[in-house]
Amino acid sequence: MRVVVIGAGYVGLATSVGLCLRGHAVPVVERDRQRRDALRDHTLTLSEPGISDALREVGPKLRTVAHLSDVHPNPQIVFLAVGTPSDAEGHVDLTDLRQAVRTASAQCYGALVVIRSTVPPGTTGDFANEFPELRFAHVPEFLREGHALADFLSPVRIVLGVSDGDSAALLSQLFAPFKRPILKMDTASAEITKIASNTLLASRVALIDELSRVASEAGADIQRIRNAVGMDPRIGAHYLNPSLGFGGSCLPKDVAGLSAWATGRGLHLPVVDALCVSNDTHADWVLKQIPSHATNVAVWGLAFKTGTADTRNSPAIALIVKLCGRGQRVDVYDPMVPDAAPLPTGATRAESPVASLINADYLVIVNACVANSYTDPILTTLQQADAVLNLTRPPST
Ligand SMILES: NC(=O)c1ccc[n+]([C@@H]2O[C@H](COP(=O)([O-])OP(=O)(O)OC[C@H]3O[C@@H](n4cnc5c(N)ncnc54)[C@H](O)[C@@H]3O)[C@@H](O)[C@H]2O)c1
Repeated sequence: MRVVVIGAGYVGLATSVGLCLRGHAVPVVERDRQRRDALRDHTLTLSEPGISDALREVGPKLRTVAHLSDVHPNPQIVFLAVGTPSDAEGHVDLTDLRQAVRTASAQCYGALVVIRSTVPPGTTGDFANEFPELRFAHVPEFLREGHALADFLSPVRIVLGVSDGDSAALLSQLFAPFKRPILKMDTASAEITKIASNTLLASRVALIDELSRVASEAGADIQRIRNAVGMDPRIGAHYLNPSLGFGGSCLPKDVAGLSAWATGRGLHLPVVDALCVSNDTHADWVLKQIPSHATNVAVWGLAFKTGTADTRNSPAIALIVKLCGRGQRVDVYDPMVPDAAPLPTGATRAESPVASLINADYLVIVNACVANSYTDPILTTLQQADAVLNLTRPPST
């Protein structure tokens, strides 16, 4: 099948490499030169297990280009996997997506444009009205960073948001070899399926974090509570780990985007509106658990969660900023995040767990970036002094 992918971030890379592994030759259009060069060298500017090896395996099947005009002139499917960040008011900024649609409109007459980016309800239909020379579908991506390729290749289900039979047939043919359940629906339902997933995940994080505050106040054990609660099949144990709150490039912006979308339509969603507030108050509560008299605080974890190098909307960074704001010195250790990544003013990077602990009188473990079995005399001393706050959750979440 003649397929093109626009955008070589987490979603675009997983989509293009995954489709190459399924036998297609896939050109990837990426505007960022550094990302293009890294891909051509079979290296990555982002850290995702399996993708570098897969790039070597697929070889010339995956071609990285700067412009859509550099690829075959009449693709059947153009996947759009560009960023849809939040603007200052929490609305989803569709500038990059609109730009990519315009390019497809100018060069791929009649193609099926498949939006993989997360978008507000109705976006795909709006584009279909505005660009009648193209057909549109929405196939949301549910991958987890740190598992991007594996999740693309073996998704729990594939959601096809389609508005005509030809598009449904073409996408069913493309995804049939994945041998996973395919759910067909209208485009708005597909858009909302993705937003609903992330809103529900964020709500579980916010609720278990709030309950961890209750447990702490009552002198109870939140781990025993979550184990017991999670055994109820109506609730389940996944995504039920107290932590430093939700972060990353998706959950905060998708929740904020839903809130802003609803507010703009006079739709009152008090629970959704409260999720980001709850998340922020939790971060403040965690800060209060760290003694302000600790002069040197070691923080293990800079990425937004364990198993990724992505620091977008990282709760760890927000915490480090607050600690530095209180005048505390912070030594950060996170082996996944490149040294060049920006660090909050006042914090320093440590090359090893032990280096981060040398001056520490308190340790906050945000990400599980050090093996559970790790021992060190300074760590033992801090543990014995009750000067360790462990906020890790399993890497799969
Ligand atoms: N990261 C995730 O875990 C994840 C999971 C599911 C869905 N999503 C959604 O998928 C979308 C992409 O997320 P991401 O994390 O892969 O984004 P990203 O920021 O990592 O990558 C987007 C890429 O698109 C490129 N780009 C933007 N406009 C372009 C254009 N006109 N032409 C060529 N390249 C262009 C950018 O340079 C960038 O490399 C977002 O809507 C996000 O919400 C992300």
